[in-house]
Amino acid sequence: MARETWATRVGFILAAAGSAVGLGNIWRFPWVTAENGGSAFLAVYLGIVLLVGVPGLLAEFVIGRRSNQSPVGALRALSGSRIWGLWGVFYVGTAVALISFYSVVGGWILRYFGESALGLVGARPAYFAAPGRYFGGVAAGLDALGFHLLFLALTALVVFGGVRRGIELGTKVMMPAVLVLLIGLAVWAGARSGAAEAYAFYLSFDIDTIRANVFDVLGPAAGQALFTLSLGAGTMITYASYIDEDRSLPFDATVIAILNTLVGVLAGLVVFPLLFSLGVDPTQTAPGPGALFVGLAGAFAQLPGGALIATTFFGVVVLAALSSSISMLEIPVSFLVDEYSLARRRAVALVTLGVVVTGGLCAINPTLWGTTVFGFVAGSLVDALLTAGLAAVLLFVGWVMGTDALAELRAGGGDLSAAIATPWLLGIGVVLPVFLVFTLLTTFGVSASLGFWPTVLVAVLVGTAAVAGLRTERALV
Ligand code: PHE
Repeated sequence: MARETWATRVGFILAAAGSAVGLGNIWRFPWVTAENGGSAFLAVYLGIVLLVGVPGLLAEFVIGRRSNQSPVGALRALSGSRIWGLWGVFYVGTAVALISFYSVVGGWILRYFGESALGLVGARPAYFAAPGRYFGGVAAGLDALGFHLLFLALTALVVFGGVRRGIELGTKVMMPAVLVLLIGLAVWAGARSGAAEAYAFYLSFDIDTIRANVFDVLGPAAGQALFTLSLGAGTMITYASYIDEDRSLPFDATVIAILNTLVGVLAGLVVFPLLFSLGVDPTQTAPGPGALFVGLAGAFAQLPGGALIATTFFGVVVLAALSSSISMLEIPVSFLVDEYSLARRRAVALVTLGVVVTGGLCAINPTLWGTTVFGFVAGSLVDALLTAGLAAVLLFVGWVMGTDALAELRAGGGDLSAAIATPWLLGIGVVLPVFLVFTLLTTFGVSASLGFWPTVLVAVLVGTAAVAGLRTERALV
């Protein structure tokens, strides 16, 4: 059977933007920004999105569109080496890790959406009375397991429908809905008393925080940029592999990055006025998995018409999360379809069954070796996988594809693509991998103990070793 493709150009952009826009924007972005120096952090983050995110998106697009295959087949075909094919399996693993914790959070959101909707028909949402205790009771265990399964089933249903009739159709409805509802909520929130104070807090330009904590800020900013743009997981490779015509990849990448940032900023404009208008101090609401559910849920409980606002808000989050989770599931599915010629439906069933188990573990959330499974997977594991994953993609495009990549970037891209092509290749082949390795090292606290320049040196050495490895491997094939 011929491989499916997107029906329209807008379809691809919305699907990719739908993948990018998700819990990362609505659940994480406002808090991370507020905690790390407000709009000064926003500036650092925007810089990373522009200088690392957009070139990174382009790299994944180039691999996907050039090969028309899932990450495994793509890396193997473009390099002619089975070792790269094996590395492709790394992305399949990353995707499984991602969806395992993501569908648990998606399950929490579904539950809150359902609870809030019950409030529309008269019942008082159960979490209104004591948000903190309520969340503590449902975050892990059988409750979480049930809703994880429900969220996973919804995800599987969309992916089941295929590229055009499932993913493209679904995101064409979900993405605009998310944007419109979020703008509505932001306008509404802006009219509440306390909004001005909230904006001042959220968008405060605290350059001193950044100056004093460059290392601490760089890690979160880079991690947030990669996660929120769905980079380093092979998602964008997979989605771009369904493009069948030439169009300007730089244009598409820019639109996706802008849409994604817009939703993050909008989410902050909803969340903070709400909290401030009710006198909830955001710095006192513990950040982390429960923030949205405890702080915000508490705010909804005190608002007149809170159930309606809560239903709308959690509805937006469900849609945003779903359009991201489908992009995670699609990676292992496309792998099975492409590599083993499995029928799509079988592949979806198989992968879903697997995630029932791995996600179930995150939902039950036992403590192993001193950390919780959920915390480990959602935190350092995913951060490290995405950073390493993207670094490998960049090195691959820069050193293995080389001029092929330039040709692919130029195709359909007009003058702009031609102009940026060479600087882009230099950036992703040399500067950005070093930057990524550097942030990986800061995340693991290496820079704190070594200092700035020694860490840069280590990053350069790691990068050079990787490139030397690539050259030898090439000489062997
Ligand atoms: N970008 C998504 C979000 O912000 C998460 C994601 C990461 C999706 C990696 C796919 C791959 O929620």
